[in-house]
Amino acid sequence: MLKDKNILIGITGGIAAYKICGLIRLFKKNGANVKVTATPNALNFVTELTLSTLSQEQIYTEQFNTKDRKPEHIALCDWADVFVIAPASANTIGKIANGLCDNLLTSLACAFQKQLFVAPAMNTGMYNNIAVQKNIETLKITGVKIIEPDTGFLACGTNGVGRLAEIDRIYKCIEDYFQQNSVLKGKKIVVTAGGTKENIDPVRYIGNYSSGKMGTAIADAAAAYGADVTLIKTFPLNRSYRTVDVKSAQEMFHAVSDEFLQKNADILVMTAAVADYKPEICENLKIKKENNDELTIKLVKNPDILQEMCKKKNASQQIIGFCAESNNLLEYAKEKIQKKGCDYLIANDISSKDTGFSSDYNEVYVIDKNLKTTKIDKDTKQNIAMKIMELLYGKN
Ligand SMILES: Cc1cc2nc3c(=O)[nH]c(=O)nc-3n(C[C@H](O)[C@H](O)[C@H](O)COP(=O)(O)O)c2cc1C
Repeated sequence: MLKDKNILIGITGGIAAYKICGLIRLFKKNGANVKVTATPNALNFVTELTLSTLSQEQIYTEQFNTKDRKPEHIALCDWADVFVIAPASANTIGKIANGLCDNLLTSLACAFQKQLFVAPAMNTGMYNNIAVQKNIETLKITGVKIIEPDTGFLACGTNGVGRLAEIDRIYKCIEDYFQQNSVLKGKKIVVTAGGTKENIDPVRYIGNYSSGKMGTAIADAAAAYGADVTLIKTFPLNRSYRTVDVKSAQEMFHAVSDEFLQKNADILVMTAAVADYKPEICENLKIKKENNDELTIKLVKNPDILQEMCKKKNASQQIIGFCAESNNLLEYAKEKIQKKGCDYLIANDISSKDTGFSSDYNEVYVIDKNLKTTKIDKDTKQNIAMKIMELLYGKN
């Protein structure tokens, strides 16, 4: 599984740094290419000579080394398939969670757009510190995979949580990731995300509260499963897969028709919150406030993208719809999947304050054509997206 994979290992200043020598050997033994970046503090715990001998590569520590005209943090990001920070100190976790880039390792973590793994290792007090836990949670909701520490005897002489995960477990996480990465290889997936904006005049629009986080998580999960992803979105976002920007439901309709029907993609996931109605007339000039107390805007129906795509798709294409309801969730969802004719419908309850629109968390029901319903309990949107992929396409 790891043969010829490019693995970048990041080592920080923790006592468990020496254990990474074993991890480098394990990766190398199984055919991976390994490069190592280390914080200056990490080199107090393990020597450059040891690391470079084991990885058979130079060790990258210098942020301002641009000898081949490409800064190291860009060149290494391009090279690596995954980036594994182990051990990850409380200090470095805090910096990455807050986008700080004061050394090569933290700059790499900030610039890296593929899968980042972080294996925290520290004293129990540090690990349980609220700020550290908050930073770990921030990393989780931005899609970083945390390799949870073990509980046991720590170097500081105490027993508790904070021990670096066993090397075999770290290795297994990376192996599982690459295995997962081959499940949808060769499949083209189109995902829509965000709320559409329907213009009233050049400065005003009718919109909705959709943040696009669930759709982004779905696109990220599909990419992690190895799919060729196109994300049609209504908000700014940088990703290594293809993205297409749209604003209105009409623009989204054209983009989806083009990417899914014309280009014959395999799967469409309609996560976007598409406006059902738009103003009949979009004024060319800003509407001025007049003396009258009322303004009437006539709304007309937008195309129903999900229904249209379900009608026009060919037999081998698959469509997954999303629905957001504030009451009678399952009843409406089951009606909707039958009416629209999609293969699966993911239903989420937007009445709950801590899940749904704009939240980093969600709780969903996955309904299939036969109305078989599977609940996925509350979790980060990233984990919900991975669980949806696992449910629909299996682990490998
Ligand atoms: C002997 C020793 C062991 C340490 N072990 C850890 C550790 O396991 N985890 C941790 O988060 N910090 C540990 N620290 C503290 C870090 O080295 C310190 O926070 C440092 O600033 C981390 O720098 P870095 O994140 O840039 O590598 C240790 C410090 C010393 C002196």
